[in-house]
Amino acid sequence: MSLPPHWKEVGGEGRVHRVMESTLTARDRVGVQDFVLLENYTSEAAFIENLRRRFGEKLIYTYIGSVLVSVNPYKDLEIYSKAHMERYRGVSFYEISPHIYAVSDNTYRAMRTERRDQCILISGESGAGKTEASKKILQYYATTCPVTDHMSTIRDRLLQSNPVLEAFGNAKTLRNDNSSRFGKYMDVQFDFRGAPIGGHILNYLLEKSRVVHQNHGERNFHIFYQLLEGGEQDQLSKLGLERNAQKYHYLVKGCCPRVSSINDKSDWKTVRKALTVIGFHEEEVEDLLNIIASVLHLGNTQFGEGEDGETQITTEPQLTYLSKLLGVDGPALREALTHKKLTAKGEEVSPLSFEQAVAARDALAKAVYGRAFTWLVAKINQSLAFKDEVYNSSKGSSSVIGLLDIYGFEVFQHNSFEQFCINYCNEKLQQLFIKLTLKSEQEEYEAEGITWEPVKYFDNKIICDLVEEKHKGFISILDEECLRPGEPSDISFLEKLEDTLGGHAHFVTHKLANGKTRKAVGREEFRLIHYAGEVNYTVNGELANQSVNSRTVICQSDNQILSQCFHREEVTTQKRPETAATQFKNSLAKLIEILMSKEPSYVRCIKPNDAKQSGRFDEALVRHQVKYLGLMENLRVRRAGFAYRRRYEAFLQRYKSLCPGTWPNWQGRLADGVATLVQHLGYKPEEYKLGKTKIFIRFPKTLFTTEDALEARRPALGCLVWGELIGMKSRRKARRRRHAAEIIRKFIKGFIYRHYERCPENEYFLDHQRFSFLMTLVRNPPKSVLDKSWPVPPPSLTEASEHLCRLCMQNMMRAYCRRIQPEWKKQMEQKVVASQIFQDQKDSYPQSVPKLFVASRLGREFNLKVIQTLGNDKVKYGVAVTKYDRRGYKARPRQLLLTSSFAVLVAEAKLKQRIDYAALRSISVSSLTDGFMVLHVPSEDNKQKSDVVLQCDHVIEVVTKLATMADKKNKVNISQDSIKFAVARGKEGVIDFTSGSELKVAKGKKGHLLVTAPQLNPR
Ligand SMILES: Nc1ncnc2c1ncn2[C@@H]1O[C@H](COP(=O)(O)OP(=O)(O)O)[C@@H](O)[C@H]1O
Ligand SMILES: [Mg+2]
Repeated sequence: MSLPPHWKEVGGEGRVHRVMESTLTARDRVGVQDFVLLENYTSEAAFIENLRRRFGEKLIYTYIGSVLVSVNPYKDLEIYSKAHMERYRGVSFYEISPHIYAVSDNTYRAMRTERRDQCILISGESGAGKTEASKKILQYYATTCPVTDHMSTIRDRLLQSNPVLEAFGNAKTLRNDNSSRFGKYMDVQFDFRGAPIGGHILNYLLEKSRVVHQNHGERNFHIFYQLLEGGEQDQLSKLGLERNAQKYHYLVKGCCPRVSSINDKSDWKTVRKALTVIGFHEEEVEDLLNIIASVLHLGNTQFGEGEDGETQITTEPQLTYLSKLLGVDGPALREALTHKKLTAKGEEVSPLSFEQAVAARDALAKAVYGRAFTWLVAKINQSLAFKDEVYNSSKGSSSVIGLLDIYGFEVFQHNSFEQFCINYCNEKLQQLFIKLTLKSEQEEYEAEGITWEPVKYFDNKIICDLVEEKHKGFISILDEECLRPGEPSDISFLEKLEDTLGGHAHFVTHKLANGKTRKAVGREEFRLIHYAGEVNYTVNGELANQSVNSRTVICQSDNQILSQCFHREEVTTQKRPETAATQFKNSLAKLIEILMSKEPSYVRCIKPNDAKQSGRFDEALVRHQVKYLGLMENLRVRRAGFAYRRRYEAFLQRYKSLCPGTWPNWQGRLADGVATLVQHLGYKPEEYKLGKTKIFIRFPKTLFTTEDALEARRPALGCLVWGELIGMKSRRKARRRRHAAEIIRKFIKGFIYRHYERCPENEYFLDHQRFSFLMTLVRNPPKSVLDKSWPVPPPSLTEASEHLCRLCMQNMMRAYCRRIQPEWKKQMEQKVVASQIFQDQKDSYPQSVPKLFVASRLGREFNLKVIQTLGNDKVKYGVAVTKYDRRGYKARPRQLLLTSSFAVLVAEAKLKQRIDYAALRSISVSSLTDGFMVLHVPSEDNKQKSDVVLQCDHVIEVVTKLATMADKKNKVNISQDSIKFAVARGKEGVIDFTSGSELKVAKGKKGHLLVTAPQLNPR
């Protein structure tokens, strides 16, 4: 089915939705695809209703301007196939229904075209779909970006880093069976061609408390269960483990080591494979598993009371395993778990109480696991690092897309230090979001030359300051409490907070509150009024969390990972390390800095229900998240000025049919076209503004009215377009026919006048002639030097044609010569000599032309003895000949060998005659087809015998070579009838030549030698 241009096909089952602004008219069915088009944009109920309606139609994505709101469908909607990816590639954001791929693609294109680093911030509650969204984005890039072999390794590693990080950093919680228990920021680096070439991951605040404790219905990190389920038996035995999670205290606190939705065994295989792809060595994996196993053994380490009431370890086997797996000294470990150092150097120790020992053990487990996780991230980063040496050329021209998948706002019954950090992080991100969104709005107004109208919004900086301000902020007070001498306690800390922060509008404690609020805040709690709502935090244990664990023992570990994670300086240095809160504050500040340097896009994830069920939309739960994500605030900022903005061309293209002045095409400036259009539509001045490239419409109502008008006009438009189309077609046909007739007329006239001087009558014809001559040459030029064909030029081009022909020949010859190999060159040179000597002189010459001259006719048949006799003079050519005695003309088989300075005649192994080239006077041959030749040498020379009469089948070749080597090209005589030769002592012999039917050699009259040569080509 073919669709009109404003229809696009979307949806997996071939359903057709109307998209782009067309969706606006279908708004009654599925709401609006962009919240800025909500008429009642301040109403939370309208907002949620829109989400609900779309969710009911399985439309989980909706925009707020450029922000994507995503509702977790809790089922596979089949909207993430490769075909879907292709659909979103290179398509403008608003032209197609909202999707995570649209955000991915838009970000990628912005990075490529603007060469500016980008980031996508994904936020939302646990289980809202953040991690899934970030994986979808990564998959989109992995599939759609160009890759080469090297890059495909990086791409695989980027993808494979997910299962590894999830195994070590994710766990089953009540909200999500695969909940990320750490914040993650991942940079993907692209080269100038837009191919992924590297990556880097930053991890934030792993929830370490999970290592030692899980709430009911929750699990520890996946890796523990995966190892126990999937690890090979030998491996488990080596680690001292049993294949039964029930046996490990740290794994059963939540009473659900098995979860139906998780297959630990197959996940283990995936993780093992991923570790290999990422490039982990076997020893590293072993060290890592030793740490995992040691955490389990720590969990099973029990304490009891000794004879003197001191705390002691009651589970010896665990201690043995621990010392082996951690690579530390057993007694030292025992002491570390049961005693406390009083000084940093650890000379003085005091015994720990039972509770303290348990806490020290748990602290050790958390520290070891936490640091191993950090090591793991660092290791993955090494393997994802952009290798300059490989891609030197692209250095400096790469760009980055960052993906932030970080915990959303959290409020529980009891909120501890971890929730505090998470919520503080959200405050910071919200601030960044407001700053950047406002900034980009403001920038757009500025760029378009529209006056900025200040937007009222709640700036949460006041809460960020409350937490992080120097000296006065929450974290500073916490640091101070931890560092001051004496025993800090939770209560003293709370009092200090009250002293310093009392009176702050966003800080309340039981003591500070009054009336109703007082009841809601416990005595050991403080309340922060966050931008998203109030949260009570328990101070209980706040300080313990910050205290530094005894790490002396682990610093000495043989385990490579641990020795890299725990530095000796940590325990020897007098300086107290930073508290966890300060560390977090600093890492957050760095993250904000990273994000600020990039162009942000946002994905806001919402969880529709707590039961992880598909199709259920719990309004109260969604309302809560809409509030906590600050979506209404977001919409308000976006809607503060204008609800809708589009580039002039897009706007005009869509609505031009609504105004006779702009239909069917507007010829002038786009801005004027839009002005004409909106004037015709009756827009009131307060309803819109015209910027430099865009129209800004204040209320959605205005746009909807315009859309409705378009809808109403469509049938009429259809007829109009149809009529127009038919008319246009026939007009075009008639025009073409007229044009053709005109051309034919001109041609005929020109032909009649073709021999006249150029005049208006023959102008067209002559030009056509010239043009077709030149085009014939262009299309069909001579193909080789031997191709002498050339089109006949029109008279006006005769001279040009000659020039062209010469140039063409020269070019071809030059190209031909350039292609000639040295061997062939030699051959050609010899052939040239042959032609100089024999052309038109000897009858057998024409036949010899196509036959190649060979290097030697004798191959390797030279007699060794002869070669030895010749010594240094190398034989350059040899040929079999027949020698005729000068007297009696007896024929004798000989070999004629040519060296660089003489020729020799050889009979078997004997050197019969040597002819120095210097002494060679001339060479005689007949003009017929025979193979006779006479080498004339001076007879008075004693050394040399007299002239030599030879016959050979390759006479042209032999004489050419001999004449060339002896430099006697001018000394070759070609005789018509007879050749005279010296016999000895002044006597002469004669060879007479005649033509006949076949070659005959006989003794003739007067003692002459009579040679009859076959007549081939009668001349
Ligand atoms: N787009 C989606 N399509 C289908 N299911 C999803 C989608 N997003 C999330 N889910 C489901 O929700 C679960 C929780 O998502 P996840 O991304 O892990 O949440 P978060 O990272 O926000 O805690 C996933 O395991 C998956 O089953
Ligand atoms: Mg997650």
